[in-house]
Amino acid sequence: MKNIPIKLIICKDKSEVAKKSADIFADEIRNNPSMVLGLATGSTPIDMYKELIRLHKKEGLDFSKVVSFNLDEYLGLAPDHNQSYRYFMDNTFFNHINIKKSNTYVLNGLSKNPEEECKKFENAIKKSGGIDLQLLGIGANGHIAFNEPGSSLNSRTRIVDLTQKTINDNSRFFEKKSDVPCQALTMGIASILESKKIVLLATGEGKSTAVKKALNGPVTSKVPASYLQNHIDCTFIIDKAAALKLKG
Ligand code: F6R
Repeated sequence: MKNIPIKLIICKDKSEVAKKSADIFADEIRNNPSMVLGLATGSTPIDMYKELIRLHKKEGLDFSKVVSFNLDEYLGLAPDHNQSYRYFMDNTFFNHINIKKSNTYVLNGLSKNPEEECKKFENAIKKSGGIDLQLLGIGANGHIAFNEPGSSLNSRTRIVDLTQKTINDNSRFFEKKSDVPCQALTMGIASILESKKIVLLATGEGKSTAVKKALNGPVTSKVPASYLQNHIDCTFIIDKAAALKLKG
């Protein structure tokens, strides 16, 4: 199944990761102004979003025809909750560029019928023609989106239970650990692998084991990011710290 190895770009630090990845996104958007982006939340892509905002403001990078789909959302959080991923995307990125809000899809964590919400989301991706360029982060446990270890290659957008590790990792964003939701809606592995091109960002030593396993380990549900070895056009852009375990 594997055709082309995952491409690896090692940057000197996280600001170079932001610059390189923003340049890739900006080039793709210039080439195809009505492209469909897959977007991620979390701390890793924040500087990339800042750089894209700068390119929009200073160089007129145009998002007016861009469509976007976000990877995931906490189940039980309203879109305007300050820890929801919709809130994060609006405040970190969408409010600062000229993307049409109606073109930005984030799963609704408060949907009365979450299963139906997942189906609607998959259909919207299909209707848009599919994701051209998908941005990913990686969890310290190798998760991508909220596909935790054990997620199947065939998984699609669905409701998932978060692992204790992810709940702990995310608790820094909430006042109390008990406030962290323990379920989420997430695009599946199969949904992600259907994207035409994938860029994964990782910074910091805490990600180095996951990066090593994803790049060089066996393709296994124990490390969901290792499934990316099955994609024909996937690039990891990482800093030196995240590359530490790759040496020797
Ligand atoms: C976020 C997402 C997650 C994060 C991952 C890394 O939409 O899907 O998989 O990419 O948890 O998070 P950070 O960047 O905060 O280390």
